[in-house]
Amino acid sequence: MTPQPSEASRPRILITAGPTWEPIDRVRFLGNRSSGRLGVEMAHAARARSLPTTVLLGPGVHADLPSQVAIERFQTTADLEASLRDFWPEHDILIMAAAVADFRPAGTPPEGKIERGGGGIDLRLEATPDLLAELAKLDHHGTRIGFALEGPENLGVRALEKLTKKHLHAIVANPLDTMESDSIEGVLIPRGGEPRRPPTERMSKPDFAAWLIDQAIDLHGSPPRRPAP
Ligand code: CTP
Repeated sequence: MTPQPSEASRPRILITAGPTWEPIDRVRFLGNRSSGRLGVEMAHAARARSLPTTVLLGPGVHADLPSQVAIERFQTTADLEASLRDFWPEHDILIMAAAVADFRPAGTPPEGKIERGGGGIDLRLEATPDLLAELAKLDHHGTRIGFALEGPENLGVRALEKLTKKHLHAIVANPLDTMESDSIEGVLIPRGGEPRRPPTERMSKPDFAAWLIDQAIDLHGSPPRRPAP
């Protein structure tokens, strides 16, 4: 039997999944279309490899995960930002699959519900902070992997831009039609390395998730690993 490394020597995996919901008032929000499914599948795959695993899960995401997976829920970008600050120092690999809202209503939302009245309303939006770019400023040994969901025409270029701008170790480029689909056509682009393609171009989300966890472990263990901010 192959000896298993001790729990302490295995990389600790932190996964974020699902949308953020940014409140407009007590009942309405701005959000992204994201089922969070791929992130949940990655948590299953990480745990199946006996890796200590934490998943930060957005609103509306259904997850039937084994009890060994630590789950922390978030609603807003600010919640996710705070959870990343708390959890990332205790982990080695971050896979940021969350669909973070790019904009949120500026200021504190009203306590109650905005009445429709009959007229329209103007919403002033502010940009959310770039959570991955912020994490890159921390002194941390870990490997950060982001996602780029783009139209097929500029997928490669945009993914490379985000890889650099967010100081990531790798980015998953996947076309927009992955959204709400059972399968995924993703490519992992490591910083300064050749794109890594899964064994088949289009894979089920569970199979792609398992492949990606193996790639993340391999990247984490193979230098050079530190993009300079
Ligand atoms: N992301 C983040 N903080 C944000 C927005 C996105 O950390 N405020 C992360 C996502 O979780 C994803 C990666 O950055 O892993 C790329 O997200 P994407 O929405 O494609 O990129 P943006 O930075 O929002 O750029 P743009 O909206 O201009 O495409």
